[in-house]
Amino acid sequence: MDQYKEEISRVLAPLVSLEQSRVAELLEEPPEPEMGDLAFPCYILASRRKQSPVKVAAELAQSLSGKRGVYWEKAMAQGPYLNFYFDPVVFNQDLLRRIFAEGEDYGKSNRGRGGTVVIDYSSPNICKPFGIGHIRSTVIGHALYLILEAQGYRCIGVNHLGDWGTQFGKMIVAYRRWGDDQQLKEDPVNYLYRLYVRFHREAESEPALEEEARLWFKRLEEGQPEAVDYWKLFRQLSLENYEQIYDLLGIKFDYYHGESHYNDLLDDVIRLVQEKGVATESDGALIVDLEKYGLPPAMLRKKDGATLYLTRDLAAAQYRYNTFNFVKALYVVGAEQKLHFQQMVKILELLGFPWARDCIHIPFGLIRFKEGRMSTREGNMILLEEVLQRSIRLAREIIEEKNPGLKDKESAARAVGLGAVRFGDLSNDRVKDIEFDWDKVLDFTGETAVYIQYAHARICSILRRAGATELTWHDDAADFLTCEEEKKMIKTLAAFPGKIAASAESYRPSILARYLIEVARDFNRFYHSCPVLVDDPELRQARLLLISAVRQVLKNGLALLGIVAPEEM
Ligand code: ARG
Repeated sequence: MDQYKEEISRVLAPLVSLEQSRVAELLEEPPEPEMGDLAFPCYILASRRKQSPVKVAAELAQSLSGKRGVYWEKAMAQGPYLNFYFDPVVFNQDLLRRIFAEGEDYGKSNRGRGGTVVIDYSSPNICKPFGIGHIRSTVIGHALYLILEAQGYRCIGVNHLGDWGTQFGKMIVAYRRWGDDQQLKEDPVNYLYRLYVRFHREAESEPALEEEARLWFKRLEEGQPEAVDYWKLFRQLSLENYEQIYDLLGIKFDYYHGESHYNDLLDDVIRLVQEKGVATESDGALIVDLEKYGLPPAMLRKKDGATLYLTRDLAAAQYRYNTFNFVKALYVVGAEQKLHFQQMVKILELLGFPWARDCIHIPFGLIRFKEGRMSTREGNMILLEEVLQRSIRLAREIIEEKNPGLKDKESAARAVGLGAVRFGDLSNDRVKDIEFDWDKVLDFTGETAVYIQYAHARICSILRRAGATELTWHDDAADFLTCEEEKKMIKTLAAFPGKIAASAESYRPSILARYLIEVARDFNRFYHSCPVLVDDPELRQARLLLISAVRQVLKNGLALLGIVAPEEM
């Protein structure tokens, strides 16, 4: 789009007596294709000339009538706007040439210029099964990682495991009392979780258990070897379980820095808040009064000396800044922790860290499953692994029915099943609660991953049938791509880099997800009215080139959401 803005602003600048760069900034992309390709709003000029913007637009159009540039072919006034129309052949040539030249890189940019973004995501709590509560953070965090990377940032994915706190004292007591090595080996995380639940049940009638647990946690904090060994074992077994899920999802973390990673830094945090007079002692506890900022007081150390989740997050933020020198530190965590992050950022500000404003909470709503479709061993606890396996199973059934002859059904089922869960989440505005409905997320005609994957596979199949797997772009093809559906298709493809940028800027993968639905929809419309495998060799070649470009955009876009696009399904 840059060369288009450049040319138009060069022509307009002298007419409107503004700097060319200012004109370029003012140019907008109109919402409807009838309104042209770039529009200059005439309000500023109108108020300067003390005329109506409609009149100004008409006058500008008058002075450009009959003129054209290389990239634009006409300018027309519509209300307060001066609309420029691109030369479709030049535009199509430019864009398709670029898609073919950039291939897998089409859509990427270097806007981030190597700046580091730390992304804290997934972050489950050890000794607990990986519940559905953590799916959103996992899927959204991973997509943001990929999207920001495509904008030229260096991304660091950190899994801030919940691996510290008084609950580990309870876990140790429970395991020492009732634990069984064999059962632990068989199904570690679920077994540990059952022991944890049992601890709470038994502690109701035997309060001494709580005291014993406090003691064990204290030993753990003091580094007593037996306590540490238990903790290490539980942590290791939990991690192995989570890694199976991450493998299935194709996710790798740069660091598993759980809460415990910051234990050695906590004394410094406490010292700093005291030195800077940010915290006050109250009843033996250490508190930051945030009333002035409309926030409730934040506790950083309890009476008994124990530190808290917040203390560890303060240490983690400083560690991340000192280690990675981030331009942004993102926390992909549910909206219910909003207050926690507000307090964290405020305290970092009070401590005088200018980078505090670069610590950004990326909240999201709850996920619910439509009644009755999901029951699990753990009663109300919905396990992510089961959700994923179930989705793959349902996808396999559908594929079996639709395409029984397919060679690699297993990879297709995985791609479709995992894609359904991911896209079912990512296509929604993240701040909203979502209801997960199996029938909807696996609907081939709905706003789903499989709808997009299917368009992609269909294009691959047309290209295969045409024997056109290795295509090279040639500019003459653009002369043939002039019907409405084709023009619309190409304009949509042109929007891809901008959509990635918009997703990155607002940390909303949904922008990209919704866009991909539009690409698939435009393709289906195009395909419906413009047959590809026609007799005319030049037209056929031009259309093959076009759908090949569509395939590239679908593939690149899905990849940024962590979704695989199979060539056959
Ligand atoms: N383990 C936490 C939970 O499950 C999420 C941690 C998020 N990250 C952070 N730096 N606080 O609720």
